[in-house]
Amino acid sequence: MDIRPLTGGLGAEIFGADLRDPAQLDDIRDAFVRYSVITLRGQTITPDDHLEFARRFGTINVNRFFKRLDSHPEIAIVLKEADQTGAIGESWHTDHAYDHAPAMGSILHAIETPPFGGDTAFCSMGAAYDALSDRFKEILNGLHAWHSSRHVFGAVQQDSEATRTGRVGNADLATQDALHPVVIAHPLSGRKGLFVNPQFTTRIDGLSEAESDAILHMLYSHCQKPEFQCRVRWQDGDVTMWDNRATWHKAINDYHGHRRYMHRVTVEGCALEAA
Ligand code: SIN
Repeated sequence: MDIRPLTGGLGAEIFGADLRDPAQLDDIRDAFVRYSVITLRGQTITPDDHLEFARRFGTINVNRFFKRLDSHPEIAIVLKEADQTGAIGESWHTDHAYDHAPAMGSILHAIETPPFGGDTAFCSMGAAYDALSDRFKEILNGLHAWHSSRHVFGAVQQDSEATRTGRVGNADLATQDALHPVVIAHPLSGRKGLFVNPQFTTRIDGLSEAESDAILHMLYSHCQKPEFQCRVRWQDGDVTMWDNRATWHKAINDYHGHRRYMHRVTVEGCALEAA
């Protein structure tokens, strides 16, 4: 297989791989740990192949809020129809940050891509942490932050287009809040990285609202530097797997009037340790 880094910060495209082949798993896993985001180009797979590949990395975590594939309920549907305006996952986020054991990663299979746009953007939380000053790192190292599903998937979203069109639901299940270290030691690589994100993080524990807001806003603006980012340009059949403990991601909603249809499988993670 031919592994080509996308940027200096994170991400790689992999050509000539077949995710159905267990003999290729070690190389794919090594690339995943090294690059945090890997795109396996041109896969010809069924939903069962998708699930079998995901199970090689861990137990599947069935998302509570996304519409599920009728034939394979462990697969979440990520869909925007041509006449819809909102995409799923448009804000920078980390999947399942609101869980006590946030997901290890997600594996997204492109079934139908628009003729232009619809990329997914990623940020490296390790690169963003490395670029902070040593004094500021010292301040962050002792902190923990709260994350929640309530304000994103709870009752407040009942009137959203995603809920009305059935793409997101189960508002009554949005009851999760979790406390995680602001700086984690990555469970696989040990690399230090930030673990706060604009969508699900609500507050830094023990600080006033003004103090917490100031630090979070500063971090969010810092993390969005292009130097820490890569973008995946999709083609039908591509499969992208991202490391949820090392990245943020965001669906770019710039393909209005066209359909984009993906299948997502999310793999269980573990409780996060402070760096
Ligand atoms: C997601 O946030 O899981 C969806 C990302 C995408 O559709 O590009």
